[in-house]
Amino acid sequence: MRVLVNNWDGGHTVPSRRLYPHQWSWDSAFIAIGNARLSPRRARTELLSLFGAQWHDGRVPHIVFNPQVPEAAYFPGPAFWGVRAPSGSATSGIVQPPVHALAAWKTYEADPDLGFLHRLYPRLVAQQEFLRAHRRGRDGLISIVHPWESGMDNSPAWDEPLRHVETANVGFVRKDLDAICADERPTDDDYERYIALALAYRESGYLDAGDFQIEDPLFNVAYAVAEHALARIAHELGLDPEPHEREAAAMTAALTHQLFDGALFQPRDARTGRLIRSASVAGLTPLLLPGLPGKVADTLIDTALDLFSLKDGLLPSYSPAAAGFDAARYWRGPSWINLDWLVWQGLKDRRPELATGLADGMLCAAAHAGLREYFDPATGRGHGSRDFSWSAALVLDLVAEHGMKSVPAAGRDIGQELRCFGEADHVADRVADQVPA
Ligand code: DGY
Repeated sequence: MRVLVNNWDGGHTVPSRRLYPHQWSWDSAFIAIGNARLSPRRARTELLSLFGAQWHDGRVPHIVFNPQVPEAAYFPGPAFWGVRAPSGSATSGIVQPPVHALAAWKTYEADPDLGFLHRLYPRLVAQQEFLRAHRRGRDGLISIVHPWESGMDNSPAWDEPLRHVETANVGFVRKDLDAICADERPTDDDYERYIALALAYRESGYLDAGDFQIEDPLFNVAYAVAEHALARIAHELGLDPEPHEREAAAMTAALTHQLFDGALFQPRDARTGRLIRSASVAGLTPLLLPGLPGKVADTLIDTALDLFSLKDGLLPSYSPAAAGFDAARYWRGPSWINLDWLVWQGLKDRRPELATGLADGMLCAAAHAGLREYFDPATGRGHGSRDFSWSAALVLDLVAEHGMKSVPAAGRDIGQELRCFGEADHVADRVADQVPA
């Protein structure tokens, strides 16, 4: 709670004070899921402020820049992207996995406010329409055009497609290395390619996909999960949920027929039509889809046990058994609370005992290493930024649902009082009084 309170900027929450000083799209969704347990008003504000920067074409930019933060604080900043939303906010021009409808639904469940759903529903629908209109291929799957759009920026799964991206000869200075040591972040070579891709997309007016076009399982699962959540929201609003359910079912079928390799879901290079044989935890996220055929779900769980050591506590972001794994480097192996939380959601109804073990693993890691950005899957050691917002938010959600067995006593007291917390303005005082700094 202290992390969420300290990272709150009045209308949104920064993912981390030093490394990510603006508003990030999918971070805000996960943060809202945690804030829904603490201050539903903040959760609603977080989502509404993000969608306030939605573009006319429906896209929700992956960063909304805070005008009060100096340009030099983050690279690539507003001058690099050179674009504004209709609201006037400077934003980036790419997107991130659409986990927001799920967050909106969970926020509503925690504190039913129909006015909030009324305001957000058309915007959530427009977000999906952007993806259908601009990113969907004839095969029914949606492509991302930049590794940053996957949210799992530096995954070894992107090494092969990135090899074909020519680096841009533009000078730039990385800011991330001021905050985090180089061996926990992407390499300079990766950054050259990220920048080249973003520049090419910018030059096309943020319209034409360039040398990186990938059908990513996580992104497509998020899209289908969003349709399931939109069906529930539509039902609450007295609208027809059926088109959303149909869309979710069609996406589940497209994913299963085209990206399942018999053991794991794989990304596909939309330019070559070939699956990228890799071992990313993104390939387990179809467990979130209620319509996933039972046999496929069972196989995925076997893969989670074999390749991702599901029973050992945390799930790595990339299998330790695969080439390219690195236990400490950004998205190349460390465990991330958001991916583990998504798989946990997918396991709860299917294999409750495995879900419980995973929840314990996440809570233990957070209790021992703190609310770090990522964790060594074997040792639980923390890496990346400290006081990372979505780690805090999703741990709160876990605590609220799963209990606090593995958390030290001071934390447990607060957890038992969770329901007593009032609205946003009371939160900071209560937390400052009760949680040791
Ligand atoms: C970063 O700065 O590493 C972000 O993930 C890009 O959005």
